[in-house]
Amino acid sequence: MIQFENVIKKYGEHKVLDHVDLEVEGGEFVTLIGPSGAGKSTLLHALIGDLDIDSGSILVDGYEITQFKDSALQEYRRKVGMVFQDYKLLENKTVYENVAFALEVCGEPEEDIRERVYAVLDLVGMLDHEGKFPRQLAGGEGQRVAIARAMVHNPRLLIADEPTGNLDFWNTQEILKLLLKINDQGATVLLATHNRDLVDELNRRVVVLNEGRIVIDKPQSGYDVSMESAPVGEIEIFEIH
Ligand SMILES: Nc1ncnc2c1ncn2[C@@H]1O[C@H](COP(=O)(O)OP(=O)(O)OP(=O)(O)O)[C@@H](O)[C@H]1O
Ligand SMILES: [Mg+2]
Repeated sequence: MIQFENVIKKYGEHKVLDHVDLEVEGGEFVTLIGPSGAGKSTLLHALIGDLDIDSGSILVDGYEITQFKDSALQEYRRKVGMVFQDYKLLENKTVYENVAFALEVCGEPEEDIRERVYAVLDLVGMLDHEGKFPRQLAGGEGQRVAIARAMVHNPRLLIADEPTGNLDFWNTQEILKLLLKINDQGATVLLATHNRDLVDELNRRVVVLNEGRIVIDKPQSGYDVSMESAPVGEIEIFEIH
């Protein structure tokens, strides 16, 4: 589904992506980790065509996205769901309106919008909060709404850049479970984080970036630590206290 081939991105002489080769199959869950400044966000921004690379190619479903003209790029971006640490909901719109907005600007019929918005609010467990404004939500709830907004188009690819960066332990667990659920339902998920603990918990494919280079690419191991199973959480909780 996604192929980075020999991608180089420079700021001045600084190679922020340094000969990056990466292949992701449809339906995979990839955790992208590495220290601050390693190039994780740069890699994700390159993948959504948000920045120009200096050389190499980025193919998505066989299309060279670096060659997309404006209209093709817009259409492509609409097919990708994106979630960031700072989820930026519109403050003067309710939860429902924030999620519906993304479909309204595409001119979808009202009834289809309602059906789709309720389906994704249900998916993220925020149906009961549909009439609230962002200031009335806790951080974890706000991030769940942001994920609903990203999923409302039914994207096959969800890109999450440090989505739990501002969240506490409990909310982080909820967001991880949600990302796994979205992946179970068929979407490819790319999650960037500098929190190594999340990687062990998720037990999915791990790609480690350091100074713009992929230094480790470890497939999901056979031993599956399910997020539903109590022990993982319990161990963490005991360590916290
Ligand atoms: N617009 C820019 N101009 C110059 N340098 C930049 C620019 N954007 C990013 N960089 C540099 O590129 C490098 C990689 O940044 P990036 O944001 O991709 O790191 P990251 O791995 O996402 O880090 P973090 O974990 O802190 O989010 C950093 O050294 C950063 O300073
Ligand atoms: Mg980043």
